Amino acid sequence: MKNSEINIKIKRICCIGAGYVGGPTMAVIAKNCPNIRVDVVDINLDKIKNWNSDNYELLPVFEPGLVDIIKNCRGKNLFFSNDIKGIIQKADMIFISVNTPTKTKGFGKGKASDLKWVESSARQVAKYSKDHTIVVEKSTLPVRTAEVIKSILESENNSINGKSKKFDVLSNPEFLSEGTAIRDLENPDRVLIGGDNDYAVQALSSIYQEWVPIDKILHTNVWSSELAKLTSNAFLAQRISSINSISAICEATGADIREVSRAIGSDKRIGSKFLDSGPGFGGSCFKKDILNLVYLAEYFGLPEVADFWEGVVRLNKWHQNRISQLITRKLFGTLADKKIAILGFAFKANTNDTRESAAIQICKDLIEEGAILSIHDPKVKKAQIIKDLHNENKILLNTKWEKFDEIETTFKDADAVVILTEWEEYSNIDWEEMSIMMRKPAWIFDTRSIVDIKKINTKNLNFWQIGNGTLS
Ligand code: NAD
Ligand code: UGA
Repeated sequence: MKNSEINIKIKRICCIGAGYVGGPTMAVIAKNCPNIRVDVVDINLDKIKNWNSDNYELLPVFEPGLVDIIKNCRGKNLFFSNDIKGIIQKADMIFISVNTPTKTKGFGKGKASDLKWVESSARQVAKYSKDHTIVVEKSTLPVRTAEVIKSILESENNSINGKSKKFDVLSNPEFLSEGTAIRDLENPDRVLIGGDNDYAVQALSSIYQEWVPIDKILHTNVWSSELAKLTSNAFLAQRISSINSISAICEATGADIREVSRAIGSDKRIGSKFLDSGPGFGGSCFKKDILNLVYLAEYFGLPEVADFWEGVVRLNKWHQNRISQLITRKLFGTLADKKIAILGFAFKANTNDTRESAAIQICKDLIEEGAILSIHDPKVKKAQIIKDLHNENKILLNTKWEKFDEIETTFKDADAVVILTEWEEYSNIDWEEMSIMMRKPAWIFDTRSIVDIKKINTKNLNFWQIGNGTLS
């Protein structure tokens, strides 16, 4: 059933938070619902300026397919603004899509989610909204956060013209992956809506029904929806830690992780996705969402459950460290004044996001060991790398690395190349030609399994590949 047929008049949507989720998600809603006006608001002035820029290189988020939607919808039914008050006042439905990082201080430090941005959003909604507003949790949140939001909404100065304001709170977590966000949003495996009020659930559901088949729109209670999001990320991350743990066994035994992945992935019960061993999972969410789950389990007195999930994060950290140590060992146990080319800084291909990227820890480890890095990434800007390579004492390590725009120049006089992100252009490198520029004995460390070993003359180049025990 379409929005219009069930006579629910959502005419204006506001999204608080113009980040990696808010921007692309609202762009896809605007594209598929031309009769709804979608306003995305943010406290960050520069971010909104960049969302409104005609220089599409400046858009705060790089996602394949995003620019086309922005070109078609911005200024028609999609708007980016800092006028949080004015936009909230007119909205029928408000998505909260703000950041929910791990707390860095206070109770639950290092594990619990910091909900200060969610709380301030809820307070803004309570203050400025009109008489009846549907509030949608889009951010990933601990179970029962909807209760907190509802009590904030209902406790603020919540009447308008003497009439009490009314709020419905729904959970609608986002499952998009960066790099494929537009594809995931246009064709999701499922849309999850948690809520008890049929009117509000239907209002949100009817928006998605404009382009998502109805059988893919799942309805649950609010707590199941909140928990399903955390669980989904925990399961995905757990698969990566599992396969990365087996890659270490492959290297020790002569097995090959690609063959093992193919063999186990052919079992329909296991499935073939998320079985690529790499440098360890990164991204803004896996670690924080698992730690959030760990915190919840501890809070509810379930230490065994907490320990089980914390193991996924422990293994990931160990795995990244294992790679740094291995590189050092292969280069005769010292990296002092050795030049290492780093290919890829983003946490995965097709995104400019570096949050929790394995590259950050591995680059810091290599610099710590005395290496000088020449870094290439097609989308990550130098300013971002400067921020990421601050050390704990906030001293810039920028004398120890350089960023290059051309892949070729990173190879000059390098002792080793470390591939950390699976950008397609790295698969097409002519290794024979590159090796001429490198100091001998030269090494390639391929943590993403993108190098075709047949194309390497191992007389000129030493080669290590993740989980490839046949090379040892
Ligand atoms: P982000 O940091 O890219 O964007 C959040 C934005 O919210 C920022 O621009 C910030 O300035 C803004 N903001 C914070 N408080 C505000 C306020 N009171 N008023 C207006 N704007 C405010 O974060 P993100 O990656 O988009 O993630 C948002 C949420 O979605 C998180 O809970 C995350 O776990 C979840 N999520 C992220 C992804 C992803 O791929 N990045 C995928 C699914 C779910
Ligand atoms: C992940 C989930 O896939 C999304 O469903 C979820 O919405 C999102 O987190 C979120 O909540 O933020 P994302 O972090 O964008 O999406 O990217 P993934 O494709 O899941 O990759 C995460 C990390 O795992 C990357 O560092 C990637 O390189 C690594 N990875 C992924 C592997 O090492 N091997 C694999 O087989 C798959």
